[in-house]
Amino acid sequence: MTKILSDLKEWFNIRNSLTATIGFVPTMGALHKGHLSLIERCVKENKISVVSIFVNPAQFNDKNDYENYPKTFDNDFKMLKEIGVDYLLMPDYNNLYPDDYKYKVTETDFCKILEGHHRPGHFDGVLTVVLKLLNIVRSDKAYFGEKDYQQYKLIEGMTRAFFINTEVILCETIREDDGLAFSSRNVRLTKDERRKASLFPALLKSKMNAEQIRSELEKLNFKVDYVQDLTDRRYGALWVGKVRLIDNVKIKNTRAET
Ligand code: PAJ
Repeated sequence: MTKILSDLKEWFNIRNSLTATIGFVPTMGALHKGHLSLIERCVKENKISVVSIFVNPAQFNDKNDYENYPKTFDNDFKMLKEIGVDYLLMPDYNNLYPDDYKYKVTETDFCKILEGHHRPGHFDGVLTVVLKLLNIVRSDKAYFGEKDYQQYKLIEGMTRAFFINTEVILCETIREDDGLAFSSRNVRLTKDERRKASLFPALLKSKMNAEQIRSELEKLNFKVDYVQDLTDRRYGALWVGKVRLIDNVKIKNTRAET
């Protein structure tokens, strides 16, 4: 039985009675196979599993993106029940932001580049909501996807900086058959855009360097935000029509090679 909780007070009462190991997967809903792989692992590795669905306005720098964020609650709930998730937290904004976002968590280094550079304020919103959620759930483990590797690194760093007693676990990126990473935003692609989108991960994984990949993507008429190598990862973000996609792949350590 998956119990839905929208009132945090009710959750805190339950939480105080739990003693077994707890695993937690924070999400914004519109669940797909990427999310499900994290959730299945969480259920397998912990006695008690908690998933949250909260479309966090603080992390959207684009109002249009926030308003059009897909919502598929009935389907999400059905999948969570099937997997055997114990608790689904769905707080509303006032519940989660009693301060109306006057208090924020800011990282001052890694958050200035890549996604942070292109989406001002995005990571403040992510770190703030994740800190709230980690404090609310107080899980032994929390699961995050490699698909958002910069987000994972920042969250992992935050838990160490603030002595959060939750182990942050990285889960591999789950991809569709043609290589495109599952993303809640993929449903907004037209058929043609969807077909073209698979060239993005294919090029990221190719032997070309970041600059060559960028120019290939631009030749294909993608609007590229960045393609950049950093330590052992190649990160990319681009627009396919009105939809923004991000991805990253592991590469050889470029600095070690020179
Ligand atoms: P959301 O985009 O819903 O993603 C929830 C979790 O699923 C994140 O850890 C993300 O990295 C992971 N994920 C998404 N697509 C994936 C894929 N194809 N393969 C593997 N994992 C994937 O990320 C967020 O929500 C929010 O920023 C959140 C952390 C919930 C804070 O609001």
